[in-house]
Amino acid sequence: MWMTNPKLSTYLLAIFCINIYGHAIQAQTYEYDVVVYGGTASGVTAAVSAAREGMQVALLETHSGHLGGMVSGGLSITDIGNKSVIGGYVKEVFLRVGKYYNLNDVNWHPEPHIAEKVFNDMVNEANVDVFLKHRLKEQGGVVKNGRRITIITMENGVSFSAKVFIDSSYEGDLMAFAGASFVFGREPQTQYGEAHAGIRKVAPPFLSAYDDNGKLLPGVLASSPGPVGSGDKKTQAYNFRLSLTNDTTNRVPWPTPTNYNPELYVTLFRTVMLQIQKYGIEAAVMKNFDSFQYYPFHNSSKFDYNHADFFGANWDYPNGSYAQKATIWQNHKDYVQGYFYFLGNDPRIPTAYRDLFNKWGLCKDEFVDNNNWPYELYVREARRLLGDFVLIEKDVVQIRQLSNLLKPDPIGMGSYGIDCHSVQSYADENGQYIQEGNMVLNWNENLLWEPHPFQIPYRVLLPKKAELENLLVTVTVSASHVGYADLRLEPQYMIMGQAAGVAAAMTVQQFQTVHDVDTNLLGNKLRAQHAVLEL
Ligand SMILES: *[C@@H]1O[C@H](CO)[C@@H](O)[C@H](O)[C@H]1NC(C)=O
Ligand SMILES: *[C@@H]1O[C@H](CO)[C@@H](O)[C@H](O)[C@H]1NC(C)=O
Ligand SMILES: *[C@@H]1O[C@H](CO)[C@@H](O)[C@H](O)[C@H]1NC(C)=O
Ligand SMILES: *[C@@H]1O[C@H](CO)[C@@H](O)[C@H](O)[C@H]1NC(C)=O
Repeated sequence: MWMTNPKLSTYLLAIFCINIYGHAIQAQTYEYDVVVYGGTASGVTAAVSAAREGMQVALLETHSGHLGGMVSGGLSITDIGNKSVIGGYVKEVFLRVGKYYNLNDVNWHPEPHIAEKVFNDMVNEANVDVFLKHRLKEQGGVVKNGRRITIITMENGVSFSAKVFIDSSYEGDLMAFAGASFVFGREPQTQYGEAHAGIRKVAPPFLSAYDDNGKLLPGVLASSPGPVGSGDKKTQAYNFRLSLTNDTTNRVPWPTPTNYNPELYVTLFRTVMLQIQKYGIEAAVMKNFDSFQYYPFHNSSKFDYNHADFFGANWDYPNGSYAQKATIWQNHKDYVQGYFYFLGNDPRIPTAYRDLFNKWGLCKDEFVDNNNWPYELYVREARRLLGDFVLIEKDVVQIRQLSNLLKPDPIGMGSYGIDCHSVQSYADENGQYIQEGNMVLNWNENLLWEPHPFQIPYRVLLPKKAELENLLVTVTVSASHVGYADLRLEPQYMIMGQAAGVAAAMTVQQFQTVHDVDTNLLGNKLRAQHAVLEL
């Protein structure tokens, strides 16, 4: 149900207040059982899940006017890991995708507009009330009574009351504004005894950190950021995930960035010239697009592009003000658009390369109301809730014993392995360009790091009991940086969404606080919905 024409009679509670000029103004407060904040795929799943339990549910999308977050916002080739851990409503999402493609099976890699259709279908069928472009007021947007959130107010003045709130945003603004403890950046190894925490060992360098005039490249630190294993407040790189094509009937030319700075692409230029030397021009161009090809089964001319990480440009994002976040968003848009503009236009790039490169562009049939540019900045990691329980390295990888991966309160499973993009770049003592922060799948440093399915405990969704008793969190959950690196996949965000929806309903119907929910009962309900809690 779409709230372009709100059903005022049912949900509206009119409150009159006096503005600073003494005039009475009318504000609206909608009353719900459950309010889900964030129109991400996780938020959709949480909202649908609560509604299927009989709850009156509002889903608040914050900025784009579109549901599905990254899943319909450019991340078409979502990482999955072991597919047998994907069940329940999450598998249903991908089965519905398959139906749109006339398949009798799941399709894991929907085009963005197909994913969005599936999410819209699901909220409509479940009678979830969707409010688009409703973002929480930055100051004074959360009213509490003790440890309960009672009312949240949006920037447009609309308010929502609910018995249980769910924060499914990538940023965790609701949990932060409501006073939940949270962290961002990287813990030191010593904090939780995690071998992979903090600053990382680095890959061998192969390029200079200086430009041809001997000037340090923009964004590159002049020296090593610190010893391996020490913590910081820095975040792995963001980018935009794009839908690209070379199909002339569906291609629009590369956009011209609003602010273009060719100096940002010296390393890109050097890499491309090396690739041309090594592979020839045609193959070098394809090196840029080889990564991912999607729907249907390597048979389409649409590609999900994931290579334009903007290292070090997002450190102020996780806990930044809305204004800071908007600036960082624009900087990333300029950077990624500039990246393609550079390859298609810079006179130092061989003409033959540019000509081939310019046979590619954005897809005309995606993100049609946004100049074919994706709706979402790819926020890989931002705030992380700090609950009474924190999921850490030993909970997600098979270090010494499998029993570490089992939990008394499972709500689903992860399986992908630790995956973290670089955090920063710096010049080493020899002037070489170093990227730092990367952690990759199948990390095998001590032969004990095979990715293995692990149970996600209910407790990762919970703020500290002493802080908030009617909030569940489904994206920015309680995990260390290393634990989060294995959990931060869209299917897992959705798995946690399904569990949060059921737990919210149980809280409303039976248990009063999210901490009191009987996790055996919750687990059994989820199993009955075909969620996978154990293999
Ligand atoms: C998924 O995990 C299970 C349990 O570890 C394992 O038996 C199975 O082979 C895995 N499947 C894949 C495709 O890796
Ligand atoms: C687009 O690129 C793919 C991959 O290289 C190629 O197979 C296909 O022929 C290209 N299509 C067109 C229209 O150039
Ligand atoms: C591949 O794409 C072509 C053109 O869109 C289509 O005709 C064909 O049926 C597709 N093949 C498969 C296996 O989906
Ligand atoms: C987040 O930002 C707010 C507002 O600037 C500040 O008060 C708070 O201390 C910050 N939190 C952390 C964990 O840095």
